[in-house]
Amino acid sequence: MMGVLGSSSSSLAITVVLGLILNAVVCYGGTSSNYSRTAFPTYNNTDMPVDSEAFYVPPGINSPQQVHITQGDHVGTAIIVSWITPTAPGSNIVLYWSTQENGTKIQLAEATIGAYRYYNYTSGFIHHANISNLQFNTKYYYQLGEGQYARTFWFVTPPAPGPDVPYTFGLIGDLGQTYNSNGALAHFQLDPLNGQTVLYLGDLSYADNYPFHDNVRWDTWGRFVERSAAYQPWIWTVGNHEVDWAPELGEPVPFVPYSHRYHTPYEAAGSTAPFWYSIKRGPAYIIVMAAYSAFGYSTPQYSWFNQEVLKVNRTETPWLIVLMHPPWYNSYHSHYMEGETMRGVYETTFVQNKVDIVFAGHVHAYERSIRVSNILYNITNGLCTPMKNLSAPVYFTIGDGGNEEGLSNAMYFPQPYYSASREASFGHGILDIKNRTHAYFAWHRNEDGYDVISDSLWLTNRYWYPTDDSN
Ligand SMILES: *[C@@H]1O[C@H](CO)[C@@H](O)[C@H](O)[C@H]1NC(C)=O
Ligand SMILES: *[C@@H]1O[C@H](CO)[C@@H](O)[C@H](O)[C@H]1NC(C)=O
Ligand SMILES: *[C@@H]1O[C@H](CO)[C@@H](O)[C@H](O)[C@H]1NC(C)=O
Ligand SMILES: *[C@@H]1O[C@H](CO)[C@@H](O)[C@H](O)[C@H]1NC(C)=O
Ligand SMILES: *[C@@H]1O[C@H](CO)[C@@H](O)[C@H](O)[C@H]1NC(C)=O
Ligand SMILES: *[C@@H]1O[C@H](CO)[C@@H](O)[C@H](O)[C@H]1NC(C)=O
Ligand SMILES: *[C@@H]1O[C@H](CO)[C@@H](O)[C@H](O)[C@H]1NC(C)=O
Ligand SMILES: *[C@@H]1O[C@H](CO)[C@@H](O)[C@H](O)[C@H]1NC(C)=O
Ligand SMILES: *[C@@H]1O[C@H](CO)[C@@H](O)[C@H](O)[C@H]1NC(C)=O
Ligand SMILES: [Fe+2]
Ligand SMILES: [Fe+2]
Repeated sequence: MMGVLGSSSSSLAITVVLGLILNAVVCYGGTSSNYSRTAFPTYNNTDMPVDSEAFYVPPGINSPQQVHITQGDHVGTAIIVSWITPTAPGSNIVLYWSTQENGTKIQLAEATIGAYRYYNYTSGFIHHANISNLQFNTKYYYQLGEGQYARTFWFVTPPAPGPDVPYTFGLIGDLGQTYNSNGALAHFQLDPLNGQTVLYLGDLSYADNYPFHDNVRWDTWGRFVERSAAYQPWIWTVGNHEVDWAPELGEPVPFVPYSHRYHTPYEAAGSTAPFWYSIKRGPAYIIVMAAYSAFGYSTPQYSWFNQEVLKVNRTETPWLIVLMHPPWYNSYHSHYMEGETMRGVYETTFVQNKVDIVFAGHVHAYERSIRVSNILYNITNGLCTPMKNLSAPVYFTIGDGGNEEGLSNAMYFPQPYYSASREASFGHGILDIKNRTHAYFAWHRNEDGYDVISDSLWLTNRYWYPTDDSN
């Protein structure tokens, strides 16, 4: 960073800012859990072998596999169903029926079929179908493949957007495909409130850590998450491990594997690229930001975001939630201050528009902030210390799905003022929205071999209950 800036005065300025953040606020921080569990068998950072049972291979050489769903439109009446057939295109038809019609009315949707090459890897046949005009709050079954290869799954559509429709979101980030990842996903699935939809915070397969970005690891990851992602929509956020930019391999275009495999409803959100977009889901308006695409002033993402945030009607969707991969408020050594550039561009808009919650991943640990902002600084006034602000979001880092890079154990001490709670363990989060004023958040550590809630609190809505000071 300093080398890039290349001037001693800039370096000095950064050092001064850093110093202020670290030292000026010797006052109270939150709690740092010193819980640590890095011993086998409850902690194992190794990627599961390619032939692991966790990477479910259906019977039939060309059976649909790696099935996953995500929201397909802006309001929740469409679903994108995606799957891969390894050896031949197979059927491009999705059959679906709602339980309300007792299976008497079977409808069909057609998928597009694509494929891609990456270095010397050739993908299977990648299918994406948009099932639309669904009823809200309804269970649907869907069937892929034909004859003996057919597989049937189900999903439940969300309630119509509205201020007091309860809804639960699961939070998972940086999952990867280790034994730890398998534990985290299992704990999420066993959680009684396991989330009607997963908000996924970026860094999926970590295939790019393999020689030549071995894309077979994209396939194993798709097979790994199917047991959840075929039944619950996973809302995708792009992370750095989705970039796969490798000119040395003859791969000069970013996001090739990710964008072929994981689609998003960006067009319905008026976005011009699949990496930044928004959805309404029940009581929430969710804006997904792309930290690895251009986001500065005058970029398409910047223009889109600034218009988008003004469209949110808090009477219809009280909860304004933003997802991004790198956190802005992070007191771990890992990726420290990496989010500063994006924070500088967007934070004032977040605070002015009363974003309720920001969820990020990237740092392989858990952290929660107080309601904090750092928007007053104008270069000469010295006001560069993060301060409590009741209009500001609570920032969560949940980059702790369990990937093979391991935990981000090292924290800055003393714990900064903005950091309310932190723990370097793997786990998942649950956001349980009750009504327009209240939501309950719990972060679950999975490394004891059973589910332990290690941090939890009530969050109040910034539009409907702006005076509540409890966070
Ligand atoms: C965790 O360890 C740090 C550094 O040793 C210490 O300052 C802090 O008080 C400990 N926290 C708890 C909750 O024990
Ligand atoms: C992780 O688990 C695998 C399979 O049980 C085992 O072979 C490997 O030694 C374990 N690694 C560690 C670091 O414990
Ligand atoms: C589905 O079955 C229920 C219970 O038997 C019945 O009340 C309902 O009318 C049926 N709906 C349709 C569309 O056939
Ligand atoms: C791709 O190239 C690497 C390095 O030469 C080799 O190890 C691997 O087997 C190749 N894979 C395929 C599918 O050809
Ligand atoms: C799916 O169809 C709906 C309804 O036509 C449309 O609004 C939405 O943009 C489509 N989504 C995708 C990903 O094509
Ligand atoms: C906001 O949503 C409410 C509830 O759906 C609706 O009555 C109102 O007209 C909307 N306001 C605007 C400005 O669209
Ligand atoms: C808190 O946010 C409000 C709204 O954007 C802003 O006017 C105010 O200056 C901020 N206060 C602090 C201490 O950051
Ligand atoms: C920055 O803040 C200081 C102190 O409030 C003020 O005197 C100065 O004019 C401000 N500078 C700019 C560029 O707004
Ligand atoms: C919203 O939910 C909270 C928590 O369950 C409850 O205390 C509060 O009374 C509810 N508000 C309304 C208006 O129902
Ligand atoms: Fe990351
Ligand atoms: Fe990561």
